[in-house]
Amino acid sequence: MGGDGSPPTGPKDGRADPPESLQAKEAASEMEYRKAISTFDLKKMKAEREKIAMVTAYDYPSALLAERAGADVILVGDSLGMVVLGYDSTIPVTMDDMVHHTKAVARAAKRCFVIADMPFLSYHGSIDRTLENAARLMQEGGAKAVKMEGGREIAESVRACVRAGIPVMGHIGLTPQAVHQLGGFKLQGRQPEQARKLIDDALALEEAGVFGIVLEMVPEELAGLITERLQVPTIGIGAGRLCDGQGLVYHDLLQYASPLKPKFVKAYANVSEPIVEGISAYVREVKSGAFPGEDNVYHMDGAALEEVAGLYGSGARGE
Ligand code: KIV
Repeated sequence: MGGDGSPPTGPKDGRADPPESLQAKEAASEMEYRKAISTFDLKKMKAEREKIAMVTAYDYPSALLAERAGADVILVGDSLGMVVLGYDSTIPVTMDDMVHHTKAVARAAKRCFVIADMPFLSYHGSIDRTLENAARLMQEGGAKAVKMEGGREIAESVRACVRAGIPVMGHIGLTPQAVHQLGGFKLQGRQPEQARKLIDDALALEEAGVFGIVLEMVPEELAGLITERLQVPTIGIGAGRLCDGQGLVYHDLLQYASPLKPKFVKAYANVSEPIVEGISAYVREVKSGAFPGEDNVYHMDGAALEEVAGLYGSGARGE
């Protein structure tokens, strides 16, 4: 202690204290580490009935803004195929696409728990291939967990990943990678037989070791039945109010060039309009010559200009 009871400052054991900025950096990274959300936090949130907020993001700025806005989980969804790459389903999305986008998100997301989707058929072949693909999303992409669509039929793949230390989130109900088998992007589980199958699938996934399950487009009542039977949290998207958390696609909730607005989506902003207005104003000013203005240009000093103009002036060439 110092003479006034304060902690001692200055050299200890003959070594100088690290510079102030280094100490501050270490403290900041310690805070960052402590605040980073884990699968344990998500389970605790379920136990304490604190709702989990998940949003998709696909690049550095969207992840940065989701993190700033206080989201708990960022999903690098293969929905990127539809909202970012312009496909009409998630089926064309590749492992390389997922790794590329996950890398950008992981660079921005320090506190949010980042989950990356395993794309179409990347976890249905051999267990070795499934593990290699999941490993790419974590090692190259920087994801903290992966998500797989399907029920009992993928339990072996889930188990193998979990045994290897890879956290897996399940996804049942409307599974967009199976859109052609399901006959469209439709509500699932309205009939008793289908509902029973979804409950069994959820239990099988939990038994296989998932840390959470996305329930997409199922009736609220069924989502409630599943949620109360599971120890792990459920995240609903179009699954009503009884799930442990909610998820929405970034471009849907912000109405960012996202033309479809299914009933379950709530638009919290419409960013398309200000973006189009901004770009239109720019185009108008380019056409009229108003941009760039004096504030946007760089100048040479007079002597340098004279020297260069002299070299390239009319008399200089060819003499
Ligand atoms: O790809 C995605 O964005 C998803 C959500 C719809 C849950 O899987």
